[in-house]
Amino acid sequence: MLEVLSSSGSYRVEAVGTVAEAIESALQASAGAAFVLADATVVSLHPDAFRQAVDPSRLFVIEASEEAKSYSSLEPIIESLIQAGIKRNSTLIVVGGGVLQDIGCFIASVLFRGIAWSLVPSTLLAQCDSCIGSKSSINVGRFKNQLGTFHAPKQVYLVFDLLRTLPHDEIRSGMGEIIKLHLVAGENELARLKTHLAHYAETGEGLGQLVWDALRIKKAFIEQDEFDTGKRNLLNYGHTFGHAYESATQYGIPHGIAVSLGISTATFFSEQLALAPAGAADAIDELLKPWYQPYESVLCGADREAVFAAMKLDKKNTGAAVTCILTRGPGLMEKVALDANAQVADLLAQYYKRIAASAG
Ligand SMILES: NC(=O)c1ccc[n+]([C@@H]2O[C@H](COP(=O)([O-])OP(=O)(O)OC[C@H]3O[C@@H](n4cnc5c(N)ncnc54)[C@H](O)[C@@H]3O)[C@@H](O)[C@H]2O)c1
Repeated sequence: MLEVLSSSGSYRVEAVGTVAEAIESALQASAGAAFVLADATVVSLHPDAFRQAVDPSRLFVIEASEEAKSYSSLEPIIESLIQAGIKRNSTLIVVGGGVLQDIGCFIASVLFRGIAWSLVPSTLLAQCDSCIGSKSSINVGRFKNQLGTFHAPKQVYLVFDLLRTLPHDEIRSGMGEIIKLHLVAGENELARLKTHLAHYAETGEGLGQLVWDALRIKKAFIEQDEFDTGKRNLLNYGHTFGHAYESATQYGIPHGIAVSLGISTATFFSEQLALAPAGAADAIDELLKPWYQPYESVLCGADREAVFAAMKLDKKNTGAAVTCILTRGPGLMEKVALDANAQVADLLAQYYKRIAASAG
């Protein structure tokens, strides 16, 4: 169990055995009438859990995609919720991965100026990272995550059993965020991570432990800087590049895998700019490559100009510089403003050569 402090009160993250138990617990804890927003894949995998517990007129099933979390896709969902009778004292229960979480958290934060919500994260990425931190992020047209709010859930229920049905790419994707959190935390956490990853590689077990470790690391950052104005920025390590890779491939690279490739790029940039010591990029790639490897060729096929253009549009930028999180080593991340033309364009061209050589 983990208790997370937020400005709107603390909330608990607890593990429960099954989806049915999670939904039952969320329904029981709900103030007012409960409405459920659920990922279509999860509903199809656990039809009984939903059929038995949720009134069909209060169940809204959504196919997860970046299109689904765009601003224009939200209106019909909100309209259906209002038509179904959702009120200011209702609770929205969200079951799904990061896409469903972003949709549900955003709607809960703006509907009637904010209603209660709780979350059953169903992907590794959502369990290990996004389920805490209160953020929602919504796409506008082809621009990713441009709208957002902070709105803490009332409760998070982790069902590790849900991870068994995830496609391997979704495990790879979650691992990207798990590894990022450990790298940002420091040498000790990184050493512990390597032990746990070796155990997972050997036995296929231990994802739950990795999730709890990642959440404990993230908790320390978000409790100190809930609204992302300082220390929490460091959790964006790999994200300026990762978001650009997602956008330039029309989301052909899952989010956490794009983050892994982004961390690889950020470390290469750091070494080239003499922030990180020689060999840092090779060491990071050794750790990350098993998780991003199938997507190296996808990145090589992405138009470098489109990546560069997306980086220049990143919402963290102020003025003409490209702002990204670079590193001096594990636990030593820092925010750096790079000159787009003089630094980013050239280093990105060099990174493309490196990843093309690695892809073979
Ligand atoms: N708000 C935040 O703090 C935050 C943080 C990180 C990422 N994100 C966002 O999260 C999104 C990515 O989320 P994600 O990686 O969880 O993917 P996702 O929500 O897109 O889900 C990935 C796929 O897995 C399927 N799925 C979900 N649960 C499953 C299960 N238990 N078994 C089998 N299939 C299942 C979904 O239907 C979908 O096809 C991105 O849009 C990213 O921007 C948000």
